[in-house]
Parts: sequence; C-alpha cells; structure tokens
Amino acid sequence: MKRLTPILMAALVVACATGTPHAADMAAAKQNYDTFCVKCHGTNGKGDGPAAATLSTRPRDFTDCARMSKESNDQLFNVIKNGGAANGMSADMQAWSTGFEDSEITDLVAYVRSFCKK
Ligand code: HEC
Repeated sequence: MKRLTPILMAALVVACATGTPHAADMAAAKQNYDTFCVKCHGTNGKGDGPAAATLSTRPRDFTDCARMSKESNDQLFNVIKNGGAANGMSADMQAWSTGFEDSEITDLVAYVRSFCKK
C-alpha cells in the first residue's frame, strides 16, 4: 500500500485537473452552427454556404476526412475561438470568443468533426 499511495495521489490529481468528461451537446452545437456558421461553411460542412462565394478563401471542406485528420481538436478550437487571422488562416473567419463559452466551442468542434463520415 505504501508504494501505491503516490500513484493514487497522482491519479487523483489528474482526475481533478480534467474534471468530469464533457459530453458534447450536439443539439446545441447544431443550433449554433446552423445560426452562425452555415452561411459560410454550408449545412453539410462542405464550405459551400451562400456567403462562401464572396470570400477570397473558401472555407475548408469539413467532410474531407483525410484533410481534417491533419487538424487537431486544439487547432479547430483555437480557430473558432480566436479567429482565422490569429491562426494563419483567412481573416474572414472571425473570432467567436465573445459569443461563445469555451464549452460551446468544444461542442462546435465535435459538431464540425461529425461532418466527416467514415
Ligand atoms: C464569414 C464566413 C464564415 C463564418 C460565418 C464562419 N466561418 Fe469558419 N471559416 C471561414 C473561413 C474563410 C475559414 C478559413 C479557411 C482557410 O483559411 O483555409 C474558416 C475556418 C474555420 C475553421 C478551421 C478549419 C481548419 O481546417 O482549421 C473552423 C473549425 C471553423 N471555421 C468553424 C466555424 C464555426 C464553428 C463557425 C460558426 C460559429 C464559423 N466557422 C463561422 C469562414 C467563416
């Protein structure tokens, strides 16, 4: 038991730091996406929303699994939160940090991921 204690302590620290796993609220994310993102990214995430044609850089095709697998969740999160320009992408992708809580952005990342169907 003596030798186990540090391991248990470490496990506890990790558990506290990560908290309860956040189950993505996909219904809320879909509603946010359909309200704020569809005009550029398109209903099916193909980057073909009605406003996409007016952009100098076309939004990425979220259904392209091979391409999207190169992007980490952190990266997608950062682009949504801090905008395209802050991440070396098109400034047409605005920062949404004032509009959404971090948990909502995490849910949006999960929703964006769901466009890639394997
Ligand atoms: C005015 C049009 C527009 C709107 C509205 C918009 N986006 Fe974007 N988005 C873009 C463009 C343009 C890019 C960058 C494409 C590039 O530079 O390759 C982008 C990039 C992204 C990326 C990064 C993709 C990658 O592969 O790294 C994510 C994720 C994203 N948008 C999600 C969202 C979400 C979620 C919303 C709604 C809250 C949203 N966007 C609203 C135009 C828009």
